[in-house]
Amino acid sequence: MKILVLNGINLNMFGKRDPAQYGTTTLAEIDDRLRTLGAELGAEITAFQTNFEGAMCERIHAAFAEDFDAVLINAGAWTHYSYGIRDALAILTVPIIELHMSNVHAREPFRHVSVFADVVKGQICGFGADSYLLALRAAVSAVQPK
Ligand code: DQA
Repeated sequence: MKILVLNGINLNMFGKRDPAQYGTTTLAEIDDRLRTLGAELGAEITAFQTNFEGAMCERIHAAFAEDFDAVLINAGAWTHYSYGIRDALAILTVPIIELHMSNVHAREPFRHVSVFADVVKGQICGFGADSYLLALRAAVSAVQPK
């Protein structure tokens, strides 16, 4: 099973950025944890991060032609307003899991909206770095329903 993990704007700053919301774990450490859990679950992880919206859309377009079984996405602030990324995600035919480190519903009102909500299989938020691991488990279950 192959899983693509997409990280958007400002998420390369995890570990340094606002530790009260996002903890002190870096994105590289999260990627390592995903690869370790992926190995246990039989899922190969491909990770991608960008701060450029067009680059994210083009990575999603490329994924359409690749053989991923599921996609995890933490798009950061783009989640709340990027119809471009929403439309790119809508092209994909595999399950997409949206995730966030913080509980976006307990924060500012603009974070309560996800423009991806209707094109994703489900959303996970509020568990810090564990949100990624929970999302990976959700993706594996979505691909191999029990
Ligand atoms: C975030 C939540 C977003 O609202 C915010 O803009 C981020 C990170 C999270 O992981 O909690 O950059 O996606």
